[in-house]
Amino acid sequence: MTKKEIDPYDFADITIKKDCLLVSRSNSGKINMMALAWKSIGELWGFPICTVAVAPSRYTYSLLNEVHEFTLNVPSPDIESIVLMAGSSSGRDSDKIKQSGVNLTPSKNISVPYIEEAMISYECKVIHTVESGNICSHRLFFGKILAAYIDDKFIKK
Ligand SMILES: Cc1cc2nc3c(=O)[nH]c(=O)nc-3n(C[C@H](O)[C@H](O)[C@H](O)COP(=O)(O)O)c2cc1C
Repeated sequence: MTKKEIDPYDFADITIKKDCLLVSRSNSGKINMMALAWKSIGELWGFPICTVAVAPSRYTYSLLNEVHEFTLNVPSPDIESIVLMAGSSSGRDSDKIKQSGVNLTPSKNISVPYIEEAMISYECKVIHTVESGNICSHRLFFGKILAAYIDDKFIKK
């Protein structure tokens, strides 16, 4: 698989429409992934920012509060079926990365890897959080996008 580094906004129209896989890491190095529908990509404070909404009940929520980094991965058609699995069990009591069979690639700027089989991936460093309030009790994690990649085979030549 050949990854091409892209501008963070280049394929944002694809990313915002898809259920994604959010990868996070514990202090002790455990890697977890969860399904994530609620996110946005845009500019805030002069940076490209990926904002993700994560409920306090998720194991991912604890991990994001431990290690302030994540990767957001848009599944390629080959791994779309994994989204349901990642969204219906918790990494607290299982190893979803191992179960799914996806491969992890080290990120360039953060300690959380991205998913090799993803169509698009973003390396993000959490620079701010806010509670979503009455609308739904999620925490919004604002991730500064430090790098973004697309799998070469999805670029029209
Ligand atoms: C398609 C899909 C989209 C989801 N989107 C979100 C979301 O945006 N935010 C959230 O907190 N949970 C979302 N969930 C639920 C979590 O993925 C689910 O609770 C998961 O088991 C949490 O895993 P964890 O405990 O390993 O973090 C979604 C689930 C599915 C199936």
